[in-house]
Amino acid sequence: MNRPSPAARVMPLHDLHPAPDDLSAEVLSGLRAEPRTLPCKYFYDAEGSKLFDRICELEEYYPTRTEIGILSDQATAIADSVGGEALVIELGSGSSTKTHRLLEALTKPAGYVPVDISRAHLTEAAARIARSFPGLPVWPVCADFNQELDLPALESSGARRLIFFPGSTIGNFDRPARAALLRRSANLCGAKGGRMLIGIDLIKDVDRLERAYDDRDGVTAAFNRNLLRRINRELGADFVPERFAHEATFDPVEARIEMHLVSEVDQSVAIGDQRFRFERGERICTEHSYKFTIGGFVEGAAEAGWALEHAFTDAEELFALLLLQTT
Ligand SMILES: C[S@@+](CC[C@H](N)C(=O)[O-])C[C@H]1O[C@@H](n2cnc3c(N)ncnc32)[C@H](O)[C@@H]1O
Repeated sequence: MNRPSPAARVMPLHDLHPAPDDLSAEVLSGLRAEPRTLPCKYFYDAEGSKLFDRICELEEYYPTRTEIGILSDQATAIADSVGGEALVIELGSGSSTKTHRLLEALTKPAGYVPVDISRAHLTEAAARIARSFPGLPVWPVCADFNQELDLPALESSGARRLIFFPGSTIGNFDRPARAALLRRSANLCGAKGGRMLIGIDLIKDVDRLERAYDDRDGVTAAFNRNLLRRINRELGADFVPERFAHEATFDPVEARIEMHLVSEVDQSVAIGDQRFRFERGERICTEHSYKFTIGGFVEGAAEAGWALEHAFTDAEELFALLLLQTT
């Protein structure tokens, strides 16, 4: 007799309402600051998340395929170290594409908690995972992971926790914010402790780095300018995105890609009842993306309560997946 297959189990969205409440205040204060900045987390509305998925497919954007390659090659070693029945909490889960490989490899994962700021994209990705892994409880959480995360899954599951943080999203944080996020992630593992599988992009030649953030098809430029479109849509602003050039340069001293929008003309922009003047050549910093050495990253993680268990890289040492343990 055929048994009925277990149903997909997506729990109701746990919504901590990260936006748009914060968008207005953060955009206005960022544009009043010197130098001007816009927080990179606001790249990810529905349109921005789709553009990011297109970036991941680009020939120039080596991080995604390289990290997937490492994950596929090392799946058994990772699963053996993590052990059975872990609750997987993913920070900045996006399309959860890499998660498929991880969940396939792990022994009887206890559940999956994708956390992302991009609500619609998160809901769709959670439903896809639930369909692919019938019987696996999936608890989507829409939140800014910079805030304290109260995760319903943590109350209903006593399972050991594995924080999955791929995509080198950790590279978007400067040192103090990075330490704070790693510390909060360690706290998510609870008193019993847990593990983290984190992707970091490694320092490499400048040309390769800059091409990854400035592709010839202009997809990253569109992703960068979408931030202005989002501000127009959600805050009633009148940016003309085409009047801002996309720029991505590597700063070797800070070891980071710096992404800017550069005003191509003298212009004035209204956001609600506020006006901002931009001179030709004036820049808005939209993202920092730090690059690491494994040793340097591990040293910082140690200060935030994590110790290295395994470091996995690709043959060219472009990218690393680190398995860390709480100390
Ligand atoms: C670089 S993408 C990585 C996506 C996916 N994890 C991967 O490896 O391809 C960053 C992801 O983190 C999410 N994100 C960025 N800032 C966030 C924040 N402050 N809180 C929650 N999610 C955030 C974005 O919506 C996006 O899905």
